[in-house]
Amino acid sequence: MSRAAVIGAGTMGNGIAHVLAQHEWDVALVDSAPPALEQATATIRTNLDRQVKKGTLPAEAPAGILGRIHPGTDLEAVRDASLVVEAASENPAVKFALFEQLDRLAPPDAILASNTSSISITEIGSRTRRPGQVIGMHFMNPVPVMQLVEVIRGHATSDATTAAVMKTARSLGKTPVEVSDYPGFVSNRVLLPMINEAIFCVMEGVATPDAIDTVMKLGMAHPMGPLALADLIGLDVCLAILEVLHRGLGDDKYRPAPLLRRMVAAGDLGRQTGKDFHEYGAKGEGGKAKRA
Ligand SMILES: NC(=O)c1ccc[n+]([C@@H]2O[C@H](COP(=O)([O-])OP(=O)(O)OC[C@H]3O[C@@H](n4cnc5c(N)ncnc54)[C@H](O)[C@@H]3O)[C@@H](O)[C@H]2O)c1
Repeated sequence: MSRAAVIGAGTMGNGIAHVLAQHEWDVALVDSAPPALEQATATIRTNLDRQVKKGTLPAEAPAGILGRIHPGTDLEAVRDASLVVEAASENPAVKFALFEQLDRLAPPDAILASNTSSISITEIGSRTRRPGQVIGMHFMNPVPVMQLVEVIRGHATSDATTAAVMKTARSLGKTPVEVSDYPGFVSNRVLLPMINEAIFCVMEGVATPDAIDTVMKLGMAHPMGPLALADLIGLDVCLAILEVLHRGLGDDKYRPAPLLRRMVAAGDLGRQTGKDFHEYGAKGEGGKAKRA
């Protein structure tokens, strides 16, 4: 049986562990916070039950899948892993320190992947003695449902590592897409400017948040409008990714909308705080409430 380790058991880590275990991997799920591990196990159980109810998983499967996931707080669990997927908090200092440790602890031939949304894979790789075996494996939320894995090649990532990760992603029932390590990769470099432009439209009073989302849903066949999506991602996360694009690509077309900065400064972060674009839209205040 192949052994993997997933580091970070939050929103993404529990989903990655779920999908790996569903495809016969034995998974060490490591988080520094014990409550996150309890929550992750409960979430995986609920999501497996949902799959059974939908008829996409046999009724007897969840027990075996849960049995292959081993939660714990000790990074030593990576010692026998051939694949490590890091899904810890999106903080460069946290990731750099983790990869230095993972490099020391994991077997020399193990691949070290990061699920980062915006931190340079090249920079992460340079913190290790095996940059050829460091790669981005960017799963989408919710992991058990979403088809895409953006596979990000750092400057030093080898062909063999890339081929192995593309193959693994396919074996998990996903569709991997190979991209180079530039700020925001492809997913966020294309998505975030659209969200930012929608926020500029609110700020300038071009239309209400509901109207903007309706245009994009009905006119462009997007399943969700850009403002609803921003609320779901978290406005603080959107701002952080735009800053990475702006700084990393050095082009003012990525400058974050002042309204986005103002909302984040006010603590209006989207769904997580209940203060989002549509709450204002529903009150009939629309763009006016948000004009800078
Ligand atoms: N949430 C999303 O929609 C999404 C989508 C794609 C990629 N990502 C990326 O996935 C990663 C995780 O995001 P998330 O939303 O799951 O975050 P999260 O906050 O839900 O979970 C992060 C977990 O990491 C743990 N952690 C922090 N430092 C640690 C350490 N040193 N060792 C072990 N565990 C540690 C925390 O306790 C927490 O449980 C980030 O890099 C993020 O950019 C997130």
